[in-house]
Amino acid sequence: MSQPLLELRNLTTVFPTRRGLVRAVDGLDLTVREGEKLGIVGESGSGKSVTLLSILRLVPPPGRIVAGDVLFRGESLLAKSSSEMRRVRGRKIAMIFQDPMTTLNPVFRVGEQIRESLRIHGLVDGRGRARRRAEIERVIQVLNDVGIPYPEESLRRYPHEFSGGMQQRAIIAIALSCEPQLLLADEPTTALDVTIQAQILDLLERINRERGMGIILVTHNLGVVAEFCDTIAIMYAGQIMEKGATEEVTTEPLHPYTRGLLRCLPRIYGKREKIRPIPGLVPDLATLPPGCPFAPRCDVVRPECREDRRIPLKEVEPGRWVRCLLY
Ligand SMILES: Nc1ncnc2c1ncn2[C@@H]1O[C@H](COP(=O)(O)OP(=O)(O)OP(=O)(O)O)[C@@H](O)[C@H]1O
Ligand SMILES: [Mg+2]
Repeated sequence: MSQPLLELRNLTTVFPTRRGLVRAVDGLDLTVREGEKLGIVGESGSGKSVTLLSILRLVPPPGRIVAGDVLFRGESLLAKSSSEMRRVRGRKIAMIFQDPMTTLNPVFRVGEQIRESLRIHGLVDGRGRARRRAEIERVIQVLNDVGIPYPEESLRRYPHEFSGGMQQRAIIAIALSCEPQLLLADEPTTALDVTIQAQILDLLERINRERGMGIILVTHNLGVVAEFCDTIAIMYAGQIMEKGATEEVTTEPLHPYTRGLLRCLPRIYGKREKIRPIPGLVPDLATLPPGCPFAPRCDVVRPECREDRRIPLKEVEPGRWVRCLLY
């Protein structure tokens, strides 16, 4: 196995709110190896975006990381100075944010925005016109890589002149322009129609293969993750409920929550089964019940699940983890 690229150890991020402290990320342990594609899946509000923001130390105040560590190639990112952190962002770890318009600036041409990212990280050598030419060549190459047609013309366009799929490609182009070793992709395809979604995932797959870039793909769509990722972590109320190889998690889910998520997936091929939604609502993190946070919605809940203690994440087979008293 290749060495860990990223390790989260007991990562804990909280938001003080009027109704109490919200543990948006609650003691998270995760590893991403070089070239690995990890999917983080969970319903809205389970802490997926806050996990990615915590990795890059971009949690909006008053939210803050209160415990744990983030190791990138064995070095703690939490111990780095803000200027060291700026060099990590984009250059070593790039992020595609959930809302595309937080990345694209409507008043600058797309090509300019990619050039800016190259400039910030000092990636193109030379001076004056030679440097400008080298930058533009690199922009054209990056636009080509992400499948934007006619890159020489497209780089002069403004974001609003692009379709949704093209905007998403432009965002990926900015993220990839500095050749990061790890890409954090927060719902990169959710707003797109399924054919474009497939093209974007294909593109990420190709770059993962060609460059060995690690990817964390965050989505609420288990179907997308099952197609794309090597490993899956299922998140609920800021905690990992289950993790393991995609094949195993999707064919033999252990946690009742994972089983519930799988039952919500429409089957297009094979036997038709009724889609059964998970009963109940996503929990309010400020008023979680004692014990297992999934207990109120669980169809195999037992009295001990509601006892006031934290249920441990257990390794039931090598690489196969579950946080449930059934195991
Ligand atoms: N700026 C904030 N202020 C207060 N609480 C916040 C803030 N951002 C997130 N939270 C809390 O953290 C929890 C996790 O939020 P997060 O955005 O990580 O969810 P998510 O899993 O990405 O959901 P979605 O699928 O809707 O994007 C939320 O339920 C919310 O209670
Ligand atoms: Mg989110």
